[in-house]
Formats: sequence, C-alpha cells, structure tokens
Amino acid sequence: MCGIVGYTGKDLALGPVLEGLRKLEYRGYDSAGIALITDAGEKLWIEKRAGKLGNLEEILGDKVPNSHSGIGHTRWATHGGPTDENAHPHLDNEGKLAVIHNGIIENYLELRQQLEKAGHIFKSETDSESVAHLLSDSRKKHGGDLAAAMREVCQQLRGSFTLLAIHSDQPGRIVGARRNSPLVVGVGDGENFLASDVSAFISHTKRALELGQDEVADITADAIVITNLTGKTLPHNEYEISWDASAAERGGFEHFMLKEIFEQPKAIADTLLGRISGLESDVTKGIDLKNIDKVVIIACGTAYHAGLVGKYAIEKWANIAVDVELASEYRYREPSVDNKTLLIPISQSGETMDTLMAMRYAKEKGAKVFAVCNTNGSTIPRESDAVLYTHAGPEIAVASTKAFETQLIAMYLIGLHLGRIRGTISAELMAEIESELSELPAKVEQVLETVEPLRELTRKFSKSTSMLFLGRHVGFPTALEGALKLKELAYMHAEGFAGGELKHGPIALIEDGTPVVAIMPAAGSLLAEKMASNIQEVKARGAVIIAIADSPLAAANHLVRIPTTHEFLQPVLSVVPLQVIAYEMAIARGNDVDQPRNLAKSVTVE
Ligand code: F6R
Repeated sequence: MCGIVGYTGKDLALGPVLEGLRKLEYRGYDSAGIALITDAGEKLWIEKRAGKLGNLEEILGDKVPNSHSGIGHTRWATHGGPTDENAHPHLDNEGKLAVIHNGIIENYLELRQQLEKAGHIFKSETDSESVAHLLSDSRKKHGGDLAAAMREVCQQLRGSFTLLAIHSDQPGRIVGARRNSPLVVGVGDGENFLASDVSAFISHTKRALELGQDEVADITADAIVITNLTGKTLPHNEYEISWDASAAERGGFEHFMLKEIFEQPKAIADTLLGRISGLESDVTKGIDLKNIDKVVIIACGTAYHAGLVGKYAIEKWANIAVDVELASEYRYREPSVDNKTLLIPISQSGETMDTLMAMRYAKEKGAKVFAVCNTNGSTIPRESDAVLYTHAGPEIAVASTKAFETQLIAMYLIGLHLGRIRGTISAELMAEIESELSELPAKVEQVLETVEPLRELTRKFSKSTSMLFLGRHVGFPTALEGALKLKELAYMHAEGFAGGELKHGPIALIEDGTPVVAIMPAAGSLLAEKMASNIQEVKARGAVIIAIADSPLAAANHLVRIPTTHEFLQPVLSVVPLQVIAYEMAIARGNDVDQPRNLAKSVTVE
C-alpha cells in the first residue's frame, strides 16, 4: 500500500528519493514525506505533507539542504487520517532517528502504552510511530547499532511491515526490514537503494536483491549486508530486472490507464507466447497436476473476477470442480483443503495480503499452489509450488486493465492444460480454442477501434447516478468487473448482475433512463436468447440499453460491436468497452483516473 524508498550514494539524495516516490505514488497518495541526513552538521531534516506528493514538492523549493542519504514515503492511511502529523517519516523524541513504514503493526496499542509509560511522547495517531520510539531505545542498548536495533524491534512487532530507518549519527546508512510486505534492494555503482518495488530505482540500476521474510538489509553507498533476525549474514539473491524504465512511462497517452488499455493486445500476445499448445514444463514443474480432485481459485477484486471466468473454462474443459473464493474471506471459514486440492492464487502484484494469507492457510493444509502472477519475484510466486507468470508488463494505473486480460488468458491456458492432461477435452474443441486464443490480440485491436465513439457515448451518461451491468455465463463476471471499474473510477453507484437474477429483486432499481450495459452472450449460444428477454424486461421499465454484442440487437438503444470469438473467450473482448466507459466517465466527472480516491495499487494489509 504505502510506497517506500531509500537512497544512499554519490548523488544528492533528494533527486532519487523524489523520483522514487513519483514512481511509487500509485501505491498510496494520502500524504508524502522525506527525511534526509544533512551533509553539514549531520542533522536530520524532514518535511511531510498531507495530500499527494505534489503538495510536498511545492513546499520544498530550494530550502532542502545537501544530503547524500535519505528516505521517502507515500502513504495510504490505515491508522490515523491523512494529516501532516500522521504522514511519515516518524521521529524518535530526540529528533535523530526517522522511520517509514508500510503495513500494519497489529500490537501497536500495547506497544504505545508501554512506551508512553516509559516517557515517550507521541505526535501522531499512527501504528508506525511506535517503531521509531522502539528503535531509538533499542539502538542505545546496542551501542548505536541501528541494524541490531532493527533486528530486535522486528521481533517485538506483530503484523506486516516494511520498515526503513536512518539515524543522524550514521549518515550514509539506511536499515530496512520486511515481514509480509515487499522490500527490494537496488544495487548501484557507488550508490544503493531500498524500495517497495523496482520501479523506484529502475532508471538508475537494473540489478536488484530480493529480501526474504524477516530479513534486515543494512546499506551504505558501497556495501549491502543482509541478515536474518538473529543476526546471521545471508547470501545475496541478486537478479536482473527484465523490463526497462520506459515501460513504466506514459508514452504520449493522457493517462497510464489509457496506455494500459491500448497495451492489451500485446500483453495478451506476450502471455500466450509459446503456451497455447501446452504449458512449458518449467511452468508446471514442482507440481503434480494429475493427482488433484478439486481446484480452488483465490483472489481479490478484479483478479477475483478473472477467477470467476476461469471457473467456467476449467470446469468445462478439465471436468473438475472449481471453487472461486474471495481471498479475504477464505481462511476465516476454515474450508476443507487437502493434498489433492490445487490452489490457484491470482494476483497482479503478488503482494496482496488477503491472497497471501489465504494461500498460506491452504498450503499449510497440504494444497498444491499454482500461482498466476504478473510480478516476478514477488511474495506470492516465491511461496508457490509453481507459477504461471502473466506478461502484462508493469501496470501503473490503480484500476487494473491489462493485468485482468492476461489473468483471463492464464485461466484459459490452465483450463486447456488440465483438460489435456486429464483427457477431458476433445481434440476438436482444443483445436478450436487454441485457434481462437491466437486470434485474440488482433480482435482486441479491433475493439480498440471503437474507443472514440464509445467515449462520446459515455459522456451522455455522465450525470447518471447509477449504472447497471448485466451478463450471463462468462458475461456475468464480466458484468461484475464492469461495475467494479465504474465504482472505482467514476465514484458512481454501479452493480453487476446475472441477467436471469434481475427479476428476483434488482429489477426494482430500474427507473426511467437508468443506463444498463448488457454484455450479450455470443450470437447463437444457448443463453443469447434468454439474455435478449432479460433485456426486454428492463427496457420495458425505462432502462436505456447499451449492448456489447457480436451481432445486431434490436432492443439496444446503443450497440458496441465486438468481434465473434468462442463463447468462453468473450470476456477478453467484452471487457474492453467496459474499461473505456469507466475511464471516460472518470474524466467526465473530473476524477483522477490513475489514482482514484481512497485506493492504492498494491493492497498489502488485510
Ligand atoms: C481493481 C483492482 C483491484 C485488484 C485487487 C487485487 O481495478 O485493481 O481490485 O485487482 O486489489 O490485486 P492483485 O491482483 O495485485 O492481487
């Protein structure tokens, strides 16, 4: 959720720290702050402001002292509102030690009470500030050794955290730690970085080090020492980042979201590459897919919708029961899981705490874990038995688009693969799906050609108070996704329904002029006629029908034509107009497209 960056090295720290924060702002944008250790006098200099990073940058002006090491934070508020006081960094009472934190310290109240009793004075309502006070005390106990203090303090904390700390007596040194929350080290030449993700430093170095659970990194400009919480030095697990900085730039588009919508044909093609006729053995090695009797998909939000589509395909092609579960609910009902369960967590970021915790629960019970993930080296794939990486590239806009498309592709690939190894899919159907899959990138291109007229149409509904989305079969999860996108971006009441379910209650919502987006099943499919009747039912009650369909539809007030594909694959095409509607509605209503209110890209708290 929050974005964290630290820099120590040959350059003035302000530049790389602010640049890192700009790249990480998608993770949270309620407030931002920096702390630097000044070159002259070795003092701590901090500035923090509520609101977006721009608010902080505005007040910095030319008053920032020279410094070669510092940390920066962009916040998604959990404990305490988005105020200047609650913004990070947080200081100890001597004003010499600064801490930034991502995650939740679950035992913070208990810690705070103990610290206050011992005379510490708190300035914020956050859970994070306790860490600054704890580190300050512990550091004194360890003769000024900040890394030793970090190791000790981490053992006192419950919950999830990425922490960075600096102390003015030790300029040039940054100490970081992580538990259930991401932290990577950027390995430079005469400079080193610590950050929530590699986008923060990729324009400086493509060398990165992964930090494992409960590991502490102690960095200076020329040295990196990684230890576990007992102080044992650990080997460096270095890797080369495969994408370049330009992949995370807007490239002429007005917003990241629009760029990412247009990148979908490539993302789909990249994810399909070399996999249509079978998943490479390096994907599935480490997992025995033959010996399973149930599939459980766990995910959140948009990824959950991809999982719902996956259920239709996997059950049909592989003839195996598939449950799709909201990750945040899953483990709390203590579901039955055993070593014949194939658990598929789907996650763009690979860091979603709800998904990670649900996955750990199932793994402990013996499930085999086959993750679908877009982020190399993130926690979910690292803890899985096997991984199917989606190749969407970096997704910066908070609202997921191209990652969703590639998650759908992953579902189809897994469905086909399981169908093949279980002998449950006919050769004809397999050939048909394979051929249709390979045509999807070109067909999504075709849908993208309808973007401009659809943007114009969307603006007509910008004053509506509600929009409903109807679908059947795989069109139902697509409808849920369309409604989620609209809520997220347009801050507008939106709901997705199964077409057949309306008459059981939700039809009462329809009034004169209510816009209803109907995702029509593929022409000629079993449900196309039933859905046409469902549309008549709402139209008769005054709804304005915007149909997404592969053939003409008499009842439609507005028709968005999409190419024909196999009925199971249709969400890949039909979701694109829904993304465009949400995008345009956000603009028409004056909302921030890439950073919608109250949200963050990577949800690393439960
Ligand atoms: C919606 C959106 C979220 C994410 C969800 C899971 O546009 O982006 O609903 O899909 O938070 O995130 P990941 O896929 O990173 O686990």
